[in-house]
Amino acid sequence: MFDIAFIVLARAIHVIAGVTWAGAMFLLAAAILPAARDAGGGAWFGALMRRIGPLSGISALLTVLSGAYLFFGLHAHDVTLGGWVLRTGAMAAVLAMVVGFAVGRPAGLELARLQQPGEDTPERRQRIGMLGRRVALSVRATAGLMALSVLAMGVFRYVVALG
Ligand code: HEM
Repeated sequence: MFDIAFIVLARAIHVIAGVTWAGAMFLLAAAILPAARDAGGGAWFGALMRRIGPLSGISALLTVLSGAYLFFGLHAHDVTLGGWVLRTGAMAAVLAMVVGFAVGRPAGLELARLQQPGEDTPERRQRIGMLGRRVALSVRATAGLMALSVLAMGVFRYVVALG
C-alpha cells in the first residue's frame, strides 16, 4: 500500500496536478478575469471557461487524493513545525477545492451558458454581472489559498532548520 513505487507515482501525480491546478487559478485571477472584465465578457470567455473548468477540477481532485495518500502514508504522525506547515498547506488547498466546487463551478457554468449569443435583456445583463462577481470572488479566494498551499508545500521540509 505504501510501497516506494506507489509513493514515487503519487509524488509525480501530486506535483504535476498541483502545478496545473495552481497555475490555472493564478492565471485566471491575475490575467484572464481582468481581461474578460475589460472586454465586457463574450463568447470567447465562455469557451475558455468550459476548458479551464474540467482541467482545474480534475487536477484539484488528483492533487488532493495523491496528497492525502502521501500525508497518511508518510506524515500523519509528524508533529514537528514542518508537519504543521504541511497540514496548514494541505488544509488551505482542500478549502480552495471546496470553494471552487461549491461557488466557482456553478457560477462559472451558468455564466458560460449566458455568454452564448441570445436575447439581451436587463435581467440577463444583471445576472451576468452578478455571476461574474461571484466567479471573480471565488477565483481570488481560491488563488490566495493556493498561494498559501504552494508556499507551505515548498518549505515544510526545511522550516525545522530555522530553529
Ligand atoms: C496547491 C496544491 C498543492 C501543490 C501545488 C502541492 C505541491 C507539492 C510539492 C511541490 C511537494 C513536494 C515538496 C517536497 O518534497 O519538498 C508536495 C509534497 C506534499 N504534499 Fe502537496 N501540494 C498541494 C496540495 C496538497 C494537499 C491538498 C495535500 C494533502 C491533502 C498535500 C500533501 C502533501 C504531502 C503529504 C507532501 C509530502 C510528500 C512526501 O513526503 O513525499 N499537498 N506538495
